[in-house]
Amino acid sequence: MVRVLVTAGPTREPIDEVRYLSNRSSGRMGYALAEAARRAGHRVTLVSGPTCISPPAGVRFVPVTTAEEMRRAVRRVVRVADAVLMCAAVADWRPRTRHRGKLRRETRPKPLLRLVPNPDILAELGRRKGSRTLVGFALEPGATFGARGPLAGRLGPAERNARRKLRRKNLDWIVLNGPEALEGDRTSAAAIARDGRVLVFRNLRKAALARALVGLVVGK
Ligand code: CTP
Repeated sequence: MVRVLVTAGPTREPIDEVRYLSNRSSGRMGYALAEAARRAGHRVTLVSGPTCISPPAGVRFVPVTTAEEMRRAVRRVVRVADAVLMCAAVADWRPRTRHRGKLRRETRPKPLLRLVPNPDILAELGRRKGSRTLVGFALEPGATFGARGPLAGRLGPAERNARRKLRRKNLDWIVLNGPEALEGDRTSAAAIARDGRVLVFRNLRKAALARALVGLVVGK
């Protein structure tokens, strides 16, 4: 039994009381990972931004909204985690100020959004990794998994970026996928290990990909 922390979904960064900045993310891949890990007999905590899906049964569920809230929840749970699957689409930026009330159409001067960077939660975990297994996800717009994809042994820019993130964040694995992963139930992905191994999964249902990834990176 492994204690697994999964993060999922987008974060929301408030602009005013009714608007926010966010990422396109359904949360389905992260929820599928949490479910697969639980079914494999692991103890799972799922820290999730807002989604429209219900958390899998048997999983400890920690709902959050902003990146800062996700960071706090992750830092609390990670102390008792052996493996972290950081699948959440964390907003890299947030508005510097949250406008009180609602910004009105007639607001003058016209509102200007000033953004400040959010913390890189995964990179922070990488700096205090210990013996934990750390897995990141990289969404790269140009990722392809056909004949010219990672299996062809040629480094495309998507794979190069994913490998850079793997090193920079001090991860054991990074899972590369393309924007088609954002919607729908099927996706392709490549799992790239710190030791150089590359495994490609083509056009799988997210539940099947989740089972394969959990078996690969978490094990029994
Ligand atoms: N991540 C994180 N905290 C952030 C941004 C990203 O923990 N503020 C995590 C994601 O959950 C994912 C990994 O880092 O596991 C890679 O995220 P991605 O958005 O692809 O990379 P970035 O580091 O944001 O780089 P870039 O914006 O240049 O693509």
